[in-house]
Amino acid sequence: IPVDPFDLVIFGGTGDLARRKILPALFRRYCAGQMPEGSQIIGAARSDMDDAAFKKLVKDALAEFNPGPKPDADQLKGFLAALHYVKVDAMGTDGWKELAGKMREGKVRAFYFSVAPSLFGALAERLHGNGMVDPDTRIVVEKPFGRDLETAKALNTSLAAHFDESQIYRIDHYLGKETVQNLMAIRFGNMLFEPLWNSQYVDHIQITVAETVGVQGRGEYYDRSGAMRDMVQNHLMQLLCLIAMEPPAKFDPDAVRDEKLKVIRALDPVEPGDIVRGQYKADGERTGYLEDVNDPQSKTESFVAMKVHVSNWRWAGTPFYLRTGKRMKARASEIAVVFKETPHSIFDEDAGRHRNTLSIRLQPNEGIDLDVTIKEPGPGGMRLVDVPLDMTFSEALGPEAEVVTDAYERLIMDVIRGNQTLFMRGDEVEAAWAWTDPIINGWEARGDRPASYDSGSAGPEDSLAMMHQDGRRWREIR
Ligand code: BG6
Repeated sequence: IPVDPFDLVIFGGTGDLARRKILPALFRRYCAGQMPEGSQIIGAARSDMDDAAFKKLVKDALAEFNPGPKPDADQLKGFLAALHYVKVDAMGTDGWKELAGKMREGKVRAFYFSVAPSLFGALAERLHGNGMVDPDTRIVVEKPFGRDLETAKALNTSLAAHFDESQIYRIDHYLGKETVQNLMAIRFGNMLFEPLWNSQYVDHIQITVAETVGVQGRGEYYDRSGAMRDMVQNHLMQLLCLIAMEPPAKFDPDAVRDEKLKVIRALDPVEPGDIVRGQYKADGERTGYLEDVNDPQSKTESFVAMKVHVSNWRWAGTPFYLRTGKRMKARASEIAVVFKETPHSIFDEDAGRHRNTLSIRLQPNEGIDLDVTIKEPGPGGMRLVDVPLDMTFSEALGPEAEVVTDAYERLIMDVIRGNQTLFMRGDEVEAAWAWTDPIINGWEARGDRPASYDSGSAGPEDSLAMMHQDGRRWREIR
């Protein structure tokens, strides 16, 4: 879908996120022919530099962070020509007039706040004060969107003082992932699944987001957050919403976000006995969590597993098990819908009892897999066995499917198109914090210490026991 020519200002344009994600994503869209003639990208930051120095910084960032072969020289030249830099003091007055002078009438105008949330309010105020905002102007903000309900509300209020909700694009990069959007296509584009998608037929659902990396030099940020704030409150919550929500009437921003919000509001508080927290240990080669964050007393979790209930008509009685952690066995994210056994078996006991499982692999090796029960071949009578109907998207759809668009490419283009479907609305973010706050506050009040787990494992033993108690098992992380 084509986009209109734009002026995109990246506050924090020389920072880590801009260099790693935003600018490479824009470059790839440029190469795909999706950045129209007459568009410009303006880096704005505190550093003293001119256009040429900024272009050099971007060129180096592309060499370092853009995957794949070296960029084509002509394309690189064309892209760099669209870049500019303005030195701006977010808290002061310097640079604002110059920035305002670069804005052009008749272009889509977007401001990416790739800076600490404490600067959001100041930026919003100055954009207004310098006449850079009209009703169609958009702003983009990233997580962490607060660290609890109170701070999230304060951020929402400071943005709402200057922008309408329809102008605010809150990024959760999981929503930009190809397969995460596929969840909606699978659910609402097929007749097959939706009639069974409820507690009458579904025994339980598992959502796993496992990473092999540790805190990766982000110890200071991470230790103040932990897996609950870093992953569950946002990414896992979004996955849960997409799996559990009612069909929206239309694939349009508010219809989708209204349904997601209802799921979050239907979540029961979580009992302390339904959560396991963990911290990874050192192994032969790598240091453990406590060394990584440089605090031998830290009680922050790098792993969390929990049982969650969505208390509504559709899901009453079907638990959702969520887990996410760093330094686990493999990098694997999947959602598994485990169906109930048939109500009655016509076969004798030897045949065994079986269940269908639909698993949706989010990354890597994107695809879906449906375990179907069939007869074990051979003359040995009626014995049943489960076999997977396995569809790996890149095999089913051919090589094009392997060119998976990075989440940031899609999301930035959606900002320019003015499509908010894949962005979080303020009330969603607040509702998610309202649910996580009591959990985190409980740990803090009790001074709970996470269990240790081996690096390269599936997490603490207690998380396995949590499932066993319910007569269930986690799926293997592969
Ligand atoms: C980020 C978290 O939001 O998501 C990181 O802050 C985490 O800690 C990352 O590693 C995972 O994203 P992805 O796209 O690699 O699954």
